[in-house]
Amino acid sequence: MSDAKRQELTSLMLAFQPACVLGAACELDLFTAILRRAAPPTVPELAAELKLDVRGLDALATALVSLDLLTKSDAATFAVADGCARWLDSQSPETIVPLIRHQASCLRGWSQLAYAVKSGVPAPTISSVSGPLADNRSFILAMHSIGSRLAGPLVAKMKAAGLLDFTRFLDLGGASGTYSLEFLAQNPTAQGVILDLPIAIQEAKKRLAGTDAARRLELVEGDFYVDEYPTDVDFVWISAIIHQHDDAATAEMFRKTWRALRPGGRVAVRDIYVDSDRRGPLGAALFGVNMLAQTATGKVYSVAEVVKSLEEAGFRDARLAIPADDMTAVVVAEK
Ligand SMILES: C[S@@+](CC[C@H](N)C(=O)[O-])C[C@H]1O[C@@H](n2cnc3c(N)ncnc32)[C@H](O)[C@@H]1O
Repeated sequence: MSDAKRQELTSLMLAFQPACVLGAACELDLFTAILRRAAPPTVPELAAELKLDVRGLDALATALVSLDLLTKSDAATFAVADGCARWLDSQSPETIVPLIRHQASCLRGWSQLAYAVKSGVPAPTISSVSGPLADNRSFILAMHSIGSRLAGPLVAKMKAAGLLDFTRFLDLGGASGTYSLEFLAQNPTAQGVILDLPIAIQEAKKRLAGTDAARRLELVEGDFYVDEYPTDVDFVWISAIIHQHDDAATAEMFRKTWRALRPGGRVAVRDIYVDSDRRGPLGAALFGVNMLAQTATGKVYSVAEVVKSLEEAGFRDARLAIPADDMTAVVVAEK
């Protein structure tokens, strides 16, 4: 093995260290706390405010300075580095703090990957310092961080492909409403309904409060594994959902979708799809590992598997309408 390969392998393995540093800083909301201070704080000042250990914060802050995420003055005070506040202030409209917190939760599962490969199920969950409820909320808000950048261009592509001709849609597991809001914006006469778990519906209510969209979007708390779906819809959006469970649950989801849809209605399944020969692409392969590390039965599907499952549920003309290597590929089918 050449030295260069040795270096590449050791660097690959050490990549977790900066990720953990950034994850811990976001879990503790360090950047926001620094930004809210009247003057840049020292480590002991910040540790006192956030009730942290001084030695612990000193190590973390030193690493954050080395990573160019904080700056340190000659008086040993810390400030958020240029260009970071927009993303790392948890109160900024464009914040990615929930996304980083969610990824830190994923990382705890990934760190026990060999356990999951051996046993077939994730290692027992370790919560963040904020607890499981806060982790769940971070997950829902992380979906918005991701979706808010993808939804506009993707829904525009769907419109151009003639897929936005619905009057009332169901957003199954629609989280805090990122895609629903985009459907309402790009199809101004449509109405919709989100079915999701209570924690997600709470976040959707906050996002919708005081908006015009609130009148056009119904929010329903429910469990899509247990409950029948809201009916009288002509479009069902199943976005980043099926990868959390196995073939049998996907087949049942498609059968319930078929029952919920009006005749002539359409289902659209947004996800990241692995090639049929399961050689890649890399993003899909790693996403499959993510599902192994985080879920008991989840997996990454190929387009062919989804098409077959839709047809078995009674749909016709199932096809890849929007191709993509990432989580913006869309398979559609007609009732
Ligand atoms: C990966 S997120 C996708 C969110 C959204 N569809 C999107 O594309 O951004 C999965 C969503 O499914 C919801 N979910 C998971 N299990 C559910 C269940 N049993 N019943 C209803 N919703 C569920 C979660 O709360 C979450 O909002």
